[in-house]
Formats: sequence, structure tokens, C-alpha cells
Amino acid sequence: MSTAAATTAMKPLAIRGTTTDGSPGRGIDVWPPVVLAPMAGVTNAPFRSLCRSFGPGLVYVNEMIMAAALVYGNSRTRSMVTFAPDEHFRSMQLYGSDPVIVERAVDILGSENLVDHIDLNFGCPAAKVTRKGGGAAVPLKKNLLSEIVRAAVRAGSRYGIPITCKFRMGINEELMTFIDTGKICRDAGAVTIALHARTAQQHYAPSARWEAIAQLKQQVDGIPVLGNGDIWCADDALRMMHETGCDGVVIGRGCLGKPWLFRDLVDAFNGRPVRSAPLLGEVLDVMISHAEALMQHHRDNGRNDDTKGIREFRKHCGWYLTGYPVGPDVRRQFAEVSTLEEVRALAASLDHSLALVAGGERLPRGHTNGPINVVLPHGYLDHLDDLQVPDDAMLTTMSGG
Ligand SMILES: Cc1cc2nc3c(=O)[nH]c(=O)nc-3n(C[C@H](O)[C@H](O)[C@H](O)COP(=O)(O)O)c2cc1C
Repeated sequence: MSTAAATTAMKPLAIRGTTTDGSPGRGIDVWPPVVLAPMAGVTNAPFRSLCRSFGPGLVYVNEMIMAAALVYGNSRTRSMVTFAPDEHFRSMQLYGSDPVIVERAVDILGSENLVDHIDLNFGCPAAKVTRKGGGAAVPLKKNLLSEIVRAAVRAGSRYGIPITCKFRMGINEELMTFIDTGKICRDAGAVTIALHARTAQQHYAPSARWEAIAQLKQQVDGIPVLGNGDIWCADDALRMMHETGCDGVVIGRGCLGKPWLFRDLVDAFNGRPVRSAPLLGEVLDVMISHAEALMQHHRDNGRNDDTKGIREFRKHCGWYLTGYPVGPDVRRQFAEVSTLEEVRALAASLDHSLALVAGGERLPRGHTNGPINVVLPHGYLDHLDDLQVPDDAMLTTMSGG
């Protein structure tokens, strides 16, 4: 496929809410149609700002927050609803499996004018939630799913906040739900649906099954479909659009340690050549800015030292250095840094002219494991029509997915 062929068929992605009185709500027309995936422990304000500096105007989703924790006033959860002053489309993911709690959470976010867009997570494969019937188990209960989305849309419309939904293909090969899930979310008033093209059982391996995205696009009309899974470089995104007919793409692990992927995506979707991967020197400059921003972020959030910021930065180091031939000792030293001065000194000691190894952008980063054993509550499949709410309301922290 030529880039020109791809661009002619593609158009901006509208994520736009409506208000109760029918007037237009908050919204954005996103070009190129690219969304940063919510990633727990990663997509906080400093990370999003960094990504935005490479690709202004796209949608960058904050980390998932737990609806119940917000409603019950958990201060840590509350502090996660943080956006940069220049972040004009404040997007956030919400996890909830009780329609009443979800509606109250959206009401808090709307009445306090904290966000412009809410994405609902129905794909979390974490055992601690599916075991209780939450997360990726919710789509099996179509009525409950519908009530949750309707509750969010109802509350969202009081403030003009658009609601979108993100989900996986299903639990496993026998329990595929994504087509029904897409229709239910659409009928309940969601404005886009995004498919992470794996089952919960697959977790993060093997490869995402893009054919499911094509199937969703073909079988669920009247709502934009976003594809997600294994976009590691700009060309993958164009290929996904072309092969599946989806309306936009969601970028997860491909941007870990590689925020310039958003610049590459903007270039590729606009038919411009994509720049070659940065040399190590440029990567190190970005790393230092990222470390500084993380420290500042945690200070702004009430920390009086930099330990949390630097500890958080360490996990990004491995991702930034993936594919650069710096050797295991340097990687280990970065993984153990405890001050910004150490980061700077280590960076200064390296050969800045080192280039990424061939194929380096495709080297795995972030979660790679799978399959996993997905446990559902005893007898769960015998009562799929009921509206019984999963007993996961008191969970306050979780890594989504
Ligand atoms: C560290 C990490 C945290 C994640 N947290 C969430 C989350 O909170 N909510 C969610 O819907 N998906 C979460 N995901 C899944 C991603 O949003 C995305 O669906 C998945 O990584 C597949 O896309 P990719 O192949 O581009 O990475 C997470 C993924 C990673 C790697």
C-alpha cells in the first residue's frame, strides 16, 4: 500500500459529546486519528506532555482510575486526575463495574470540570478483578455492560463529556464477546469503540489479531472503530488502517521509551517521510527531560523529595535504551540511578553517536507475557443476564489492560 492510497481514505477522528439539551458538548477532531492508550503507571501528565511535544493535537489518555476510589474520596486516586495546564483535551480512563458508582464518578469528574473525555475500560485481565466478575469479565454480562455504559453516558451528557469504550476480544477462544460488546457500547451512547485485538487469556502474547478489528469494523456500523495492538512504528499504524478499515489507532507499548513515535505517526499519516530513529545523544536528552518532569510532577503532587520521581524514571530507562548497543552494565547503572545528577553524569559518559540497531524499534518493551489463566467467579456463566454487580468496588489500585 502506498502512503498516498492510505491518506486519501483516512479522515480526522471526531470524539465529541452531546449535552442533555442536545447542544454540542466537549470534543476534538483528531488528525491523524491517533490515540495514546491508557497505561497504568505510565501515561501520567509528564509522559503525556512529552508525547504531546512530538505530536501536538492528538489524544493522550491519562492512566486508568478506579471509579469507586474516586467516589469514596481516595486521595491518591484523586491526585492521579492531573493534567498539564496546556493540555486542552483532558482525557482519562475510568474503571468501574457498578453502574451507580460509575455514574457518580462521572458526575464528580464533570461537576468539578476535571476532564473533557472519559474512556471506559472493559478489558482488564487482572486476576483480582476477573475472579470477582469485573474487568474483562464484564462484557459477558451484556445487560450489566449496557447499564454501565448508559450510566456513564447519562452522567457525561450532563457536562457534554464524550464517553468511549475500550475492550478485548473476549475471555478466550470459547468466550468471544467483542462484536456484541461493540454493539452494546454503541447503542448505549458511546462515541467510539477501541479493540485491543487479543483475548484476556492471551494477555500480551502472541501477536494481536488485527483480523478481529476488521471484523468489528464490518459488523458494527454507526460508530468509529479504533484498532489497538502491536503498532511498533508508524508504518504499522498505516498498515492497520489499511488492512482492517478501522477509523483510528491506539498506541500502547510502541511509544514506551519512544515518545517520538507520535511525530513519526503525524509524518506518516500526512504522507511525509518518517525520520530515522534518533541517535543515542538525542535519546539521552529526552531521558533527562523526562526525569526532570517526573520529579517536578511528584513535587507538585506534594512530595518533598525526588525519590518517587527518580524511581519511576528507572523503569523508563530500559525502554529508552532498547535497541541501542550500550551494554548490560550501562543498563544496570541506569536501572539503579537515584539522583538527577547521576542520570546526567551517566548520560555524559556515553557515546552519543550510537545508532539504533536494525529492527530496534520492534524489540519488545512493556508487558510481553501470555497466555494467562483467566479465572471467573464460580457459576458466573450460569447467570449472564442478571445485573449483579461484581464485588470489586473496594479495589483502589490496579494495572489495567
Ligand atoms: C504498562 C501497561 C499498562 C496498561 N494499563 C492499561 C490500563 O490501565 N487500561 C487499559 O485499558 N489498558 C491498559 N494497558 C493495555 C494497553 O492500553 C493496550 O491495550 C495494550 O498494551 C495493547 O496495545 P499495544 O500492543 O500497542 O501495547 C496497559 C498496557 C501496559 C503495557
